[in-house]
Amino acid sequence: MSDDSFPPIRTQRLVLRRAEAPDAAPLAALMSDAISARLASWPMPWTEERMAARIVEWRPVGLICVVERAADGALVGWVHALRAPEDAARASMGWWCAEAHQGHGYIREAAAALLPVAFERLGVAVVEAGAQPDNQASFAVMRALGMAPVGARFTYVPARGRHERTVFHEIRRAPPPDRRGLGPGTKAASSDADRERQSPFP
Ligand SMILES: CC(C)(COP(=O)(O)OP(=O)(O)OC[C@H]1O[C@@H](n2cnc3c(N)ncnc32)[C@H](O)[C@@H]1OP(=O)(O)O)[C@@H](O)C(=O)NCCC(=O)NCCS
Repeated sequence: MSDDSFPPIRTQRLVLRRAEAPDAAPLAALMSDAISARLASWPMPWTEERMAARIVEWRPVGLICVVERAADGALVGWVHALRAPEDAARASMGWWCAEAHQGHGYIREAAAALLPVAFERLGVAVVEAGAQPDNQASFAVMRALGMAPVGARFTYVPARGRHERTVFHEIRRAPPPDRRGLGPGTKAASSDADRERQSPFP
């Protein structure tokens, strides 16, 4: 199935739409040292060229969304859900919010809207997210999605060229009502808390 296009997702305050080439410059302009320091693969300087390449590279492997405020079209941030490279049943979500727009719960709202679409369109059984152990704002977003902690592991962080301890949360797809507890919808997650895994996400 191609996920290369999907209709805009609307929430009470926001519109999530697929990132396109013209978004590269405005998105790059919002990336800051403080945001980059929390992300694994968005090193500074995060240029328009890097952003454009990221859009091209990630679009085929998941859902990459520009988040805009519905009232005025202001660019608020970014959320994505990407298939895990090594596990077809798993996807990984990531997000960041422009500094000027943090503190309004926009990413909580955006991520909650993307999660069911990710289960549906990516056809995965588990969606995970990971963050640095002290990133309380991101864990609050994960909890709001219904994700539960599944442990920590060291992951390679290309932005800083080193392994960092990352705390993961995940949520399993709700089982369809007619499956009576069988099938991939209820399959136990296969995560190994101590396994080292390289991931380009978030
Ligand atoms: C994580 C991030 C996207 C959250 O953005 P947001 O939608 O504006 O979220 P809010 O500021 O409304 O905060 C969400 C929750 O975190 C809490 N929070 C925010 N900053 C916090 C802090 N420094 N310490 C503890 N809790 C904090 C808020 O109280 C809120 O909790 P609630 O839902 O229980 O009320 C934003 O902080 C960000 O872009 N950070 C930098 C990039 C990043 O960390 N990305 C995720 C990498 S895994």
